[in-house]
Amino acid sequence: MDPDLRRRLEAVVGPAHVIDDPDTRASYETDWTRRFSGRAAFVVRPASAGEVAGILQICRTAGIAVVPQGGNTGLVGGSVPRAGEAVLSLRRLDAIEDFDEVAGEVTVGAGVTLERLQQHVRAAGWDVGVDLASRASATIGGMVATNAGGVRVIRFGPMRHQLIGIEAVLADGAILRRLPGLLKDNTGYDLPGLLAGSEGTLAVITRVRLRLVPLRPARAVALLGLPALDAALRVVRAVRRAAANLEAAEVFFPEGLDLVLRHARLAPPFPRPHPCYLLLECAGPADPAPALAAALEPLADPAATLLAVDRADRDRLWAYRERHTEAISAEGIPHKLDVTLPADRLAEFESAVRARLAALRPAARPILFGHAGDGNLHVNILGLDPDDDAADGAVLELVASLGGSISAEHGIGIAKKPWLSLTRSPADISAMLAIKRALDPGAILNPGVIFDPEPVAVPPPAPDLP
Ligand code: FAD
Ligand code: MLT
Ligand code: ZN
Repeated sequence: MDPDLRRRLEAVVGPAHVIDDPDTRASYETDWTRRFSGRAAFVVRPASAGEVAGILQICRTAGIAVVPQGGNTGLVGGSVPRAGEAVLSLRRLDAIEDFDEVAGEVTVGAGVTLERLQQHVRAAGWDVGVDLASRASATIGGMVATNAGGVRVIRFGPMRHQLIGIEAVLADGAILRRLPGLLKDNTGYDLPGLLAGSEGTLAVITRVRLRLVPLRPARAVALLGLPALDAALRVVRAVRRAAANLEAAEVFFPEGLDLVLRHARLAPPFPRPHPCYLLLECAGPADPAPALAAALEPLADPAATLLAVDRADRDRLWAYRERHTEAISAEGIPHKLDVTLPADRLAEFESAVRARLAALRPAARPILFGHAGDGNLHVNILGLDPDDDAADGAVLELVASLGGSISAEHGIGIAKKPWLSLTRSPADISAMLAIKRALDPGAILNPGVIFDPEPVAVPPPAPDLP
C-alpha cells in the first residue's frame, strides 16, 4: 500500500483501522455465499460520519473506488470487492441513540446488528418491524441499503417502510442529515427513501432513524403439511381474512426440509413427508392461538398440523424454515435467485421452474422456499458450476414472462445485473443512471453493482481555504 495514502487514511481513523495484511483482509473479501470474492486494496474502519467523509475525500482524490460493507451477509455479491476496491467497513458505527420510548422511534448507527437493536428495544416494549434469519450479523445500515424484507413484510413492510430519517455521506464527502424523525415532512425529494435499496451505490449510510412497532409477546406458530403450493396459498388467503394478526406465511418443500434435517440434525416434523409445508405465525396483545386454530380447522388435516405457543416450541418449528439458507450452503455453493410473482401466478411458476431447470441442466438441484404471503420464492440451485449462469437466466426470463420481479428483497448486486432489463424498462434504467451520475459522477461508490455506469470526469476538489 502506498505509504502516503496509508498516512492520510491513518490520520482520519487511526493506524489500527487501516488494514492491508492479507489474513485480516480475507474475511472482508469473500461474501456469505462463498460464490463472490475479490482482492481489496485495503480495509478501512471509520467510527463516525466525519471519518467516512474524510475517507471518501481521500479515496476520490486517489481514484480508489469503495465498497461499503456492513455484516457481509448480502446474497448478491454487492458487499465484497471485485477489482481492487477499498472495503469501507461500517461496523464500528455501532451506537444506539435517542430512543424515544413514547413515540417508538430510535436512531441507530449503521453498524448496529439487527439482533442488538431487537434486544435493546424489546426491553422497553417495542420491536423492529423487519426480522431476518441473519439477524446476528446483518447491520441496520446494510438492511436499509438493501431494503431488506424478511419474514414479517406481510404485516410491517420492508426496511424502507421503517425508515423515517437518515444520515449519509455522499461521494464528495458532503454529509446529508435528515434525522429529526418527523412523521410528516414534505420538503422536497424523499432522500431516505431513495437511499433505501441503493446497495451502496449512491451514498454511505451512517445513521438511520427508525419507527418501531409495539412488541407483541403473545404468539402462535402453525406448521402444516399440504399437498401442493396452491393449497398453501389458499390457506394463507383464508387465514389472512380470519386472523387479522397474521405476521408470517412461509413455505418450503421436501428437498429443502431434507437438507435442514440432515445438516441441522433435526427430527422430521411429521411422521410422513408432504409435498409442501406452510409455516404461519400470528401475534397480538392477547393469545392468538385460539383464532389461528379456528381459522385452520376447516382447512388443514389435523394429522399434518402442528401448533406451538411456548417460545421453545415456536423456535423448533421456525428452525425448519429459518435454517434453509445455512443448510443449502453446507451442501454446496448455490446460485441464489430471489423472485416475486403476482400471487395468482406463484404456483404455476413453482412447477414451471422445476421443469425448465430439469430440461436445461439435468444435474441442477433446485431448492425452493420463501415468503408465500409476499409472492416471494427463493430459488436456490445446487449442482451448477459457479460461472454457469444459463440456469439463472432461464429462471429470470420465466419470472419476467409471468409478470414478476427478478429481485424481491436481496437486490441486484452483481449477481442479477445481466438481467436488470428483463423487468426494468430503458426509461427506468436511464433515470436510475442519471441519479447515479448526479450523486456519484466519478463512480467511486460500489461501481459495477446494479449496473455499470461510465464515470464522468470529476474536477479535483478545491484547495482548502485558509
Ligand atoms: P452487507 O452484506 O454488508 O451489504 C449488503 C449491500 O449493502 C452491499 O451492496 C453493501 O455495499 C451495502 N451496504 C452495507 N452497509 C452499507 C451502508 N452503511 N451504507 C451504504 N451501503 C451499505 N435478506 C432479506 O431481505 N430477507 C431475508 O429474509 C434474509 N434472510 C437471510 C438469511 C441468512 C441466513 C442470510 C445469510 C442472509 C439473509 N438475507 C436476507 C440477506 C442479508 O442478510 C440482507 O441483505 C441484509 O440486509 C444485509 O445486511 P449486511 O449488513 O450484512 O449488509
Ligand atoms: C430467507 O428468506 O431465508 C432469505 O432471504 C435467505 C435466502 O434466500 O437464503
Ligand atoms: Zn427471504
